[in-house]
Amino acid sequence: MANKHTIEELSYEARTFDPPEEFAAQANVTAEEYDKAAADRIGFWAEKAGRITWDKPFDEVLDWSDAPFAKWYVGGRLNAAYNCVDRHVEAGLGKRVAYHFEGENGDTRTITYSDLLREVSKAANALTELGVKTGDRVAIYMPMIPETVFAMLACARIGAPHTVIFGGFSAHAISDRVKDCGVEFVITADGGYRKGKPSGLKSVVDEAMQECPEVRNVLVVQRTGQDIDWQEGRDLWWHEVVDRQSDEHTAESFDSEHPLYIMYSSGTTGKPKGIMHTTGGYLVGTSYTHWAVFDIKPETDVYWTAADIGWVTGHSYIVYGPLANATTSVLYEGTPDTPHRGRWWEIVEKYKVSVLYCAPTGIRTFMKWGREIPAEYDLSSLRLLGSVGEPINPEAWMWYREVIGGDRCPVVDTWWQTENGNILISPLPGVTATKPGAAMRALPGIVADVYDDEGNSVAPGNGGYLVIKEPWPAMLRTLWGDEERFRKTYWSQYPDVYFAGDGAKIDKDGDIWVLGRVDDVLNVSGHRMSTTEIESALVSHDMVAEAAVVGARDDTTGQAIEAFVILKESADGGGEDVVKELRNHVRAEIGPIATPRSIMVVPDLPKTRSGKIMRRLLKDVAENREIGDVTTLADSSVMDLIQEGMSGDA
Ligand code: WT7
Repeated sequence: MANKHTIEELSYEARTFDPPEEFAAQANVTAEEYDKAAADRIGFWAEKAGRITWDKPFDEVLDWSDAPFAKWYVGGRLNAAYNCVDRHVEAGLGKRVAYHFEGENGDTRTITYSDLLREVSKAANALTELGVKTGDRVAIYMPMIPETVFAMLACARIGAPHTVIFGGFSAHAISDRVKDCGVEFVITADGGYRKGKPSGLKSVVDEAMQECPEVRNVLVVQRTGQDIDWQEGRDLWWHEVVDRQSDEHTAESFDSEHPLYIMYSSGTTGKPKGIMHTTGGYLVGTSYTHWAVFDIKPETDVYWTAADIGWVTGHSYIVYGPLANATTSVLYEGTPDTPHRGRWWEIVEKYKVSVLYCAPTGIRTFMKWGREIPAEYDLSSLRLLGSVGEPINPEAWMWYREVIGGDRCPVVDTWWQTENGNILISPLPGVTATKPGAAMRALPGIVADVYDDEGNSVAPGNGGYLVIKEPWPAMLRTLWGDEERFRKTYWSQYPDVYFAGDGAKIDKDGDIWVLGRVDDVLNVSGHRMSTTEIESALVSHDMVAEAAVVGARDDTTGQAIEAFVILKESADGGGEDVVKELRNHVRAEIGPIATPRSIMVVPDLPKTRSGKIMRRLLKDVAENREIGDVTTLADSSVMDLIQEGMSGDA
């Protein structure tokens, strides 16, 4: 297996932490839930559909006759925005806070469910006035502000699937997605606050729009008031168009399988995949898992997913899951160290956050900054901690538990993917005795396993490929416009079984440890990127003849991008600033998250006789390890040359 060394290094963790008695006694979910789901999986998901309000009940829970194309809650009709907002107001919860918004610059806004209903209704009326119709795709490129949620729910309300593009992506990434998705309407903001400064978003959209003549309108939220260019006829201010709309809007119901959104994510090729989620199953799945994994008590909890809405974590656990459950959430715009390194803990103290969900990369950064910083704040409101996005090393898990959770909060390490729609493997906080670093077990209603190359379940103590053996409600339905790639990527390794692309190990107790990707996909700070995508960006520079990218271990970001490039002869060595120039080029092509930690100019790349780059060897170099087996190289002296270059560098 590709990540064999990882399996060996991740030693079996002997410590376990039982759920505190008090926590278990009040938990939403007990151990019986597993048995119930195992005895009748379809019946279990039928019952969970009762969490959602259907305008028309469904006739059938699951239609898997056209596998791998699933239909859940067949024949049912519902509106996602109605389920997230209106029904709570109708139930008398209008005064409950939906979001405590905290801007990075210190401004705040409290949005109740009644406020949310008015704002979403106005935005839906505006979209309709501007000609956005059911089925049209709308791109959203925004900072982390309340209008981002209003925009998403307004789209859901009128049945226009949104495609949210992470605010850190480049113009190029925007135009790619807009074109692939056939978007004609874009929602953005002038900018947002990041690291203490207004950063531009509209300017990036403007650049992207040069390649997207089919976009007829760009609706712009004024956030920072910075100067922006304006294209008459195309650009519209949100406050001019949305604010004057009626705040009443009747949500129409859509088929359970109506597309809710498309979220682009990196695959193993240069072209991002448009992962498509639909309405009924996604809402049932996000609502159920949010309630079960985070033990949500909507009346009393203050819930905070410290992630960006531009990723699936934000879609499922800042927007749809929490809102479907009428939860009070924190929405924070900025970075953890602005204006100081205690910002997160100040927010926890201020809003009395009770459940916190974040990524290991954040935890490792806080570890580096030191435990004295969180110690300055009152974190006693916390009762449960979650982790997501990448494997969490036992040290970070323990630090999170002890320093942030005061040794009293259960920690849930949740495994899932953009494709999955919701958490699939995780401890249940009132049931599971957790092990630092393990995602533990498939949730009730989910059937996960670890397979060997032949498709047999591995024996306890062994590693293999993580698979999901039965369909689940929030699963992706297809890749936008590419059914073939959908089949090939997820369903071709083993028949009718979902291939996750992750390596995993089952320990002697039968618990699952997810070890990371087995394909050419990198995970940097919980963000997914493909090696090919970054290589393509490098090669698109005039000076570069060839490039190879690998993910090397990094103490903070999990993996870091290490690039090896061969320059063209015409580049004449590239000059002193070649590395800087190439790093900037990658930033401009993809976005800052794709910036290589280092770029090494090499005379040649290690290739097999068939011409395939042996990234494994480059990874050895990047991780300062002894170089592995080079016998299959076409030219075995290449590695010597690369290493000589390296030692010269250092
Ligand atoms: C990949 C999915 C949906 C969460 C945000 C990332 C890795 C995610 C864990 C975890 C080990 C994890 C996997 C997966 N991953 N959570 N708890 N333990 N690995 O979503 O961008 O779709 O990436 O993130 O490698 O395949 P994504």
